[in-house]
Amino acid sequence: MHLPDYKEARTRDKRSYKRVNFEENSEVKDKYRGKTFYLKTYGCQMNEHDSENIEALLVFLGFKKVDNYLDADLVLLNTCSIRENAHNKAFGMLGRLKHLKQEKKDLIVGLCGCMAQEASVVEEIMNHYKWVNFVFGTHNMYQLPEIIDKAIEENKQQIEVFSREGDLIEGLPVLRVNDYKAYVNIIYGCDKFCTYCIVPYTRGRERSRLKEDVLKEIDDLVRDGYKEVTLLGQNVNAYGKDIYDNYTMANLLEDVAKTGIPRIRFTTSHPWDFTDEMIEVIAKYPNIMPSVHLPVQSGSNRILKLMGRRYTKESYLELFHKIKDTVPGVSISTDIIVGFPGETEEDFLETLSLVKECKYDNAFTFIFSKREGTPACKLLDPVSIEEKEERLQRLNEVVNQYFLENNKKLVDSSLPVLVEGISAKKNMYYGYTDTNKLVNFTSDKELQAGDIIDVKIMEAKTWSLDGEVVG
Ligand code: SAH
Ligand code: SF4
Ligand code: F3S
Repeated sequence: MHLPDYKEARTRDKRSYKRVNFEENSEVKDKYRGKTFYLKTYGCQMNEHDSENIEALLVFLGFKKVDNYLDADLVLLNTCSIRENAHNKAFGMLGRLKHLKQEKKDLIVGLCGCMAQEASVVEEIMNHYKWVNFVFGTHNMYQLPEIIDKAIEENKQQIEVFSREGDLIEGLPVLRVNDYKAYVNIIYGCDKFCTYCIVPYTRGRERSRLKEDVLKEIDDLVRDGYKEVTLLGQNVNAYGKDIYDNYTMANLLEDVAKTGIPRIRFTTSHPWDFTDEMIEVIAKYPNIMPSVHLPVQSGSNRILKLMGRRYTKESYLELFHKIKDTVPGVSISTDIIVGFPGETEEDFLETLSLVKECKYDNAFTFIFSKREGTPACKLLDPVSIEEKEERLQRLNEVVNQYFLENNKKLVDSSLPVLVEGISAKKNMYYGYTDTNKLVNFTSDKELQAGDIIDVKIMEAKTWSLDGEVVG
């Protein structure tokens, strides 16, 4: 048994970890043929992609996927810790599973992902959810076949959570959700330790994959007909720093562009590591999409400092405008937290003024959520939740207004769209522009998911565009 420990998770040393190739354990291959699984994923793209590996590992064990947890022999929750409501959702689901397990004694229930890295969660599960069969952490995913097998064979709760990152595992099997869009990890973990954020504790130190491994994965995707790749990391801009002297995110982006994959996206970018070289590469290659997610979090220098974000409002704006001026037609989106401990009305007005200057194409806005074990958790927080909710509402009104304003500028233009399919609700095709805007559109010709076609924009809405295929 291995239990999570934040003290250990905080340790960042130069200890070299190994790169190892995942090896299938042939003893458990297909052992559970005839059994079914249901996998529920919470959280970010990183977790969605982890679930693509988890699914493949479950299939390796012989399990078959079902879409309703009531039909499953095994239910696995891939959880997220970022805010309290993510926690509540997972515990809510555990509540439903407890009832189900009373009727269905053989049901196997497991929990993995970021919440598994939290000592308080694991303690709660060991003390009050003894019926949960297994828990494994983000660094233990490759052990899934053995952990599940042991949980079933021994009929005893299994807890396997490494707090210090283990080895960097290559060659995990993957079952991708989509046949034309793929996620590719380039860097794991995060070393930034923003004071409100739990990710550096749940995902470990920054560890880049070798460029050869990343490029081979993308070459294979091109060969398999994939049209779009999203390079993933908690801070992709730090790519390479931990393993190379002279190979950076800008170099990697350029090499990925040269693979010829039609669309390249990357997320997330911390403003601190965003270099001029990166901006130039994005501008130079037409297959690197002109779309950047650049989380600002706050427009107040006082709050940015308390958050440990390592930039000021002024340096953020300088970077923002450099990107806008260098990459033609670029769309920029952001993340903003309101109600950080001690945020005053003046601090909040600074955020509003920054938003008015940046006129973002999209923004994810959150109320600060206390995460146990993070430094911000200990700060005095005199602002009431009602006031925070009111700030969030005021912020949302302003950001939404710019989404619509930006979208309106696109009416009558023709934009390349990657077709995703037909939306059941609207009975129209839908897909995303190169700037990552959702378009619902009609077409006389039949289209396939994965086609990239030009769509003429007829109408702008706040969160989408309407259009029709030209020619
Ligand atoms: N690595 C990414 C962030 C991933 S988390 C980055 O730094 O860009 C996604 C977003 O969740 C963050 O940008 C932040 O806005 C929000 N977030 C993180 N911790 C939070 C907390 N404790 N309370 C509220 N929002 C939080
Ligand atoms: Fe969290 Fe900051 Fe790392 Fe993003 S950069 S994952 S907000 S610590
Ligand atoms: Fe959540 Fe973990 Fe992602 S905390 S946002 S699933 S890295």
